Amino acid sequence: MTTLFQSTFVLIKPNAIQRELVGEIISRFENKGLRIDAIKMLHMSRDLAERHYGEHRDKPFYNDLIEFITSGPVIAMVLSGPDAIDTARYVVGDTDPLKAHPGTIRGQYAITTAKNIVHASDCVESARKEIARFFAPEEVLNYSMHCRASI
Ligand SMILES: Nc1ncnc2c1ncn2[C@@H]1O[C@H](COP(=O)(O)OP(=O)(O)OP(=O)(O)O)[C@@H](O)[C@H]1O
Ligand SMILES: [Mg+2]
Repeated sequence: MTTLFQSTFVLIKPNAIQRELVGEIISRFENKGLRIDAIKMLHMSRDLAERHYGEHRDKPFYNDLIEFITSGPVIAMVLSGPDAIDTARYVVGDTDPLKAHPGTIRGQYAITTAKNIVHASDCVESARKEIARFFAPEEVLNYSMHCRASI
């Protein structure tokens, strides 16, 4: 299969910040070989949360999801590298922490689906929309890494 150089969007959720897991989580992505192209901390407004999770508006967990994601600061990132979208999802693990492998972020640090520590884009179109939703084009950098496994 052809490897594509891609960008993806990752969000470290409020409970991960409360649990002081930010460094651990970012290290997982860096150690895998993904490059950080943009990063910022923000407190999501209800409007931003509703746009980010709009596809789930009819689900029974929607209101709790919006309450949770707006309950405290989050960290938004753009990560890039070979097949970055699937690679980030692989590092993150299954949505349900009970199904996530122990070597994944959710497998190691999450115990409920509702508070599963981190979000990562699920396809090219989502990644494009989510990056544009959280970052202005000039906030997303493109630069060379000189000591990466992937280059
Ligand atoms: N059955 C559920 N009960 C409670 N919360 C859920 C449930 N299913 C999904 N969620 C919440 O909604 C989020 C979005 O669900 P989705 O199906 O898009 O999973 P995902 O793509 O693995 O997660 P994310 O979009 O956050 O990366 C999940 O990460 C989780 O926080
Ligand atoms: Mg999703």
